[in-house]
Amino acid sequence: MDTTASDIRKLPFTDATRGLIYRLSTADDQAAMRMIDSSFVTDRAFHIECNASNLGSKDTGFAVDIKPVQLDRPLHKSFPDDSDSDSDDESSDCFTVVVEDTNAPSPDDAPTEYPSISGRLNKVVAFISAKFSSWNSRLIITDIEINPLYRRRGIGRSLISVAEKVGSARYPARHMWLEVSNVNYPAIQSYLKMGFKLAGLDVSLYIGTPAEGEFAIFMWKEIIQHEN
Ligand SMILES: CC(C)(COP(=O)(O)OP(=O)(O)OC[C@H]1O[C@@H](n2cnc3c(N)ncnc32)[C@H](O)[C@@H]1OP(=O)(O)O)[C@@H](O)C(=O)NCCC(=O)NCCS
Repeated sequence: MDTTASDIRKLPFTDATRGLIYRLSTADDQAAMRMIDSSFVTDRAFHIECNASNLGSKDTGFAVDIKPVQLDRPLHKSFPDDSDSDSDDESSDCFTVVVEDTNAPSPDDAPTEYPSISGRLNKVVAFISAKFSSWNSRLIITDIEINPLYRRRGIGRSLISVAEKVGSARYPARHMWLEVSNVNYPAIQSYLKMGFKLAGLDVSLYIGTPAEGEFAIFMWKEIIQHEN
């Protein structure tokens, strides 16, 4: 249950109950952000059926059906390390918000799944990166990653809410938009629960990439204007 998102009015924000700090990233956070394990496991995915449909005259239209299907075996999917990603972009139309766990155990006590950088524990447990597209007042969520140990605790929802607030305070952003693969069933479920709707599909986006065979689902959400 998300109890923090509505409290976050200004950054940095401390969620004292959980020992989490939400703040804008600095150049020093890049290594820590790259250490976050963004892989996921799923036993379901979305399938698309796209047929030509007869419109009753000589014209032809589209009939598109997107359905969840059970996979034969669980899929463990990891994303290639993208060192050239938008989350590295420090231009004025981009921002990244990171979440730090102030209660992360000391390196000696940390379980092995806690990543460390040069012997120091990585306290950055999640981040969201966004970019403003001015021509259509769109805030593009270019990345969102939560350390697997911190998922399903409301952090993703809080980060989306923070991005919405920063996006509407900094730019005239009217809506948020993101791309997600059809196999990222957990993320699609989260986005649906956060109020995102279907914006469109691209069945050719991943051709020639390691994700060939998957298709892209685009989702969007209206930005509610907040008083500053
Ligand atoms: C997708 C992701 C960002 C969600 O973050 P999160 O912190 O786990 O999400 P939250 O805990 O804020 O959950 C938000 C809502 O989604 C739901 N949800 C989260 N994970 C879910 C899952 N696996 N299945 C179904 N619902 C899920 C939650 O129940 C919650 O709904 P509620 O508030 O109505 O109860 C996170 O799973 C992640 O980092 N995944 C790996 C990286 C990735 O795939 N990034 C997205 C690339 S497009």
